[in-house]
Amino acid sequence: MKAIVQHRYGSTETLALKEIDWPVPGPGQVLVRVRAAGIGPDVTHLMTGKPYLVRLMGFGLRRPKVAVRGRDVAGVVEAVGPGVSRLAPGEEVFGTCEGSLAEYAVADEGVLTRKPANLSFDQAAAVPISGGTALQGLHGVHKGQRVLVIGAGGGVGTFAVQIAASRGAHVTGVCGPAKLDMVRDLGAERVIDYTTEDITAAGHHDLVLDAAGCRTLRHLRRALRPKGTLVIVGGENGGNWLGGVDRTLRAALWSPFVGHQLRGLISKERAEDFDVLRELIEDGAVTPVLDRTFPLERAAEAIDHVHGGHTTGKVVVSV
Ligand SMILES: NC(=O)c1ccc[n+]([C@@H]2O[C@H](COP(=O)([O-])OP(=O)(O)OC[C@H]3O[C@@H](n4cnc5c(N)ncnc54)[C@H](OP(=O)(O)O)[C@@H]3O)[C@@H](O)[C@H]2O)c1
Repeated sequence: MKAIVQHRYGSTETLALKEIDWPVPGPGQVLVRVRAAGIGPDVTHLMTGKPYLVRLMGFGLRRPKVAVRGRDVAGVVEAVGPGVSRLAPGEEVFGTCEGSLAEYAVADEGVLTRKPANLSFDQAAAVPISGGTALQGLHGVHKGQRVLVIGAGGGVGTFAVQIAASRGAHVTGVCGPAKLDMVRDLGAERVIDYTTEDITAAGHHDLVLDAAGCRTLRHLRRALRPKGTLVIVGGENGGNWLGGVDRTLRAALWSPFVGHQLRGLISKERAEDFDVLRELIEDGAVTPVLDRTFPLERAAEAIDHVHGGHTTGKVVVSV
C-alpha cells in the first residue's frame, strides 16, 4: 500500500511517499481502508519529535516508533482482528489510529465508531481529535453560561464554538480579522478580533477555553467571572522541551489558591466521545469546517500549511 513514511524526526523533508506492507490488525483491532486523514498540530509534533516531551510519552526517543504519520481517520472497515464485536467489515467509521496517511491503517476498536451519515469522509476525518478535545474542554457547560473561546477559528475552536452554542451558552469567539464572520456564523454572539481588541473586551465569562496559547494565566483569568473555569487546551509557542506544558503545570499548582478553577486539558481519544459528536453532527448542531483538502502525495504541503498556525477549521488529506 502507499503511505507517508518517516524514519527520523525532522521537518516535512523527512517524509516520503512509499509502498509498504499492509498493517495487520491484532486482537481488539480493526483494519481500516483509509478514505481521509485529518491534519492538526499533533501531526507536526509527532513528525518533529517536539516538544521533546512527546518522545518521553512513548512515541519514540530517537526516532518515531510508528513510521507512518497521521492519527485522525475516516474510512471503511476492511477486516477485524480477534475479539472485535462492535464493528464489522464494510462499515463506514471515523476515529483515530496509528498512521492514517496511508491507504490502510490499524486502529483499536475503542477509538473508532460509525461515521456520521450526513458527512463525507473528508469532513468526518476533521472531527475526532479536534472535536473530542472541544467536547472534553467544555465538560459541564450548560444553558445560559458565558463561554469565551480563544482560537475560535482553528481546529479545536470551530468545534468549541458550535458545541457551546448548541448547549445554549452565550459564546464569545476570539480570532483574527479574516475569520470574524465565519466564527459568528458558527454561533458566537460576540466576536473579538485579537489584533484590535483585548480578550477582556466582552466582559467576564464562566469558562474560558484557550486554544491559542500565547497569553499568560494572569491575562486569561481577567476574562473570567469569580469562580469561573479556565481550560488550557494548548498553543504552539511553548519551548522545544515542554511546548507550553509548563503553563499547564503552573495552572494545576496555582488553581487551589485562587478563586478560579484552572484546568490543563490532555484530551483522551475515545469512541464514546466520537458517538456524542456524531449525534451533534447528525442533529445539525455541529458541522466540521474544512480549510483545504490535499491528495495523499501532497501530505507534506498539508502539514506545512497547518504548521503556519492560521488554518480555518481543519485541513484534510484525501486518500
Ligand atoms: N490539550 C490537548 O489535548 C490538545 C488537543 C488538541 C490540540 N491541542 C493543541 O491546541 C492548540 C490548538 O489546536 P488547533 O488544532 O485548534 O490549532 P489551529 O487549527 O492551528 O488553531 C489555532 C488558532 O489559533 C489562532 N490564533 C493564533 N494567534 C492567536 C492569538 N494571538 N489570539 C487568538 N487566537 C490566535 C489562529 O487563528 P487566526 O488565524 O485567527 O490567528 C488559529 O485558528 C495546538 O497547540 C494543539 O497542539 C491540544
